[in-house]
Amino acid sequence: MKPFEFHCPTKIICGKESLHKLPDALEEHSVKKPLLVTDGNLVKLGIAKHVTDPLEEANIPYVTYDKVPPDSSLDVVNEVAKLYRDNECDGWIALGGGSVIDTTKGAAASISVGGKDFATLQGAEILKNQLDPFIAIPTTAGTGSEVTLVAVIADTQAQAKLSYTSYRLVPHVAILDPALTSSLPPRLTATTGIDALTHAIEAYTSIQKNPISDALALYAIKIINQNLAKACAEPGDLDARTNLAIGSLIAGASFSNAMVGVVHALGHSLGGLCHIPHGHAMMLLLPHCIRYNISHGYHAGLYGELLSSLCPDKDLTGLTASDKDHLFETELFAINEFYHNTYGVAITLSELGVTKEDLPAVAKQARYDGAALYNEQEITEEVAMSILEAAF
Ligand SMILES: [Fe+2]
Repeated sequence: MKPFEFHCPTKIICGKESLHKLPDALEEHSVKKPLLVTDGNLVKLGIAKHVTDPLEEANIPYVTYDKVPPDSSLDVVNEVAKLYRDNECDGWIALGGGSVIDTTKGAAASISVGGKDFATLQGAEILKNQLDPFIAIPTTAGTGSEVTLVAVIADTQAQAKLSYTSYRLVPHVAILDPALTSSLPPRLTATTGIDALTHAIEAYTSIQKNPISDALALYAIKIINQNLAKACAEPGDLDARTNLAIGSLIAGASFSNAMVGVVHALGHSLGGLCHIPHGHAMMLLLPHCIRYNISHGYHAGLYGELLSSLCPDKDLTGLTASDKDHLFETELFAINEFYHNTYGVAITLSELGVTKEDLPAVAKQARYDGAALYNEQEITEEVAMSILEAAF
């Protein structure tokens, strides 16, 4: 076995009404005046009240930034950092999906180095100081950002998604309250859920995998696939929502240590250049990337090992390792078909308005994405083009 390190220091508070523990979590970290970072939609839908009510009941003063867009950028990160500094805040609450949590990570990182422009901090392990206390409250079950060392931020000028990785970026506390995700519509539930599934699958096949990330990935795949269709069919099913949130968090802890691969390299590039939402990009690309890998002999046998987590009831007796790999690929295509047929989720790039002319630039940028470093095979432009054309 290769030597490895595993890092997951986040305190996890999970379950119905767990947001009532927010004041205690702030007190534990001596936070007197947090900055709540969220988006306008969550305020409009009344979801932000689940966080502001306990703060007000406990007489904790706070400042709010509620303008994080779905595809946050370096400018937003710097604006949030300025608001934090101007108001002399001393802790962070990120309430939202990946864009909100990653924006908050960026702003917290900028503050930790004296308010430097976040654009200058790109790369791995560039942060030397601890972030101020950071509480992440996800409202989608997908990115796992509440426990990961990654922040992905758009550079709108370069039309690229920039990946920042540092153990300093791992939030101190994650609060998973199913009430926050129960109004998420089926299409968004499905695509963000497939993002989480992709984290677990890519972590299991990454060159940086280890026995702990493997164990987490296997469990995450099982719990996500068992609950995703249920949460889409019954958005208010709090058990399914809680399980999905746990699955997403566990997949996050797995890939935060093992990292991701080709699906994310291509997906970041599609996000930066064609503005395809991250989860949707994952859903579109996942089976095609796996088909490519299997047909070229990459990760032989590993995908098959995931089958009993993805489909625990399937009889696999008599199947060879190669049969299982192919069956895993078939099952992933079937999952996409199901969400396409049931909820009208687009499963081709052309349905989302991407043109053939867009593909070469996407392929070129994917080659240089940070996720490409952890993929077994080199992601050349030819490899990327062949996958993108298949997903077109
Ligand atoms: Fe992802």
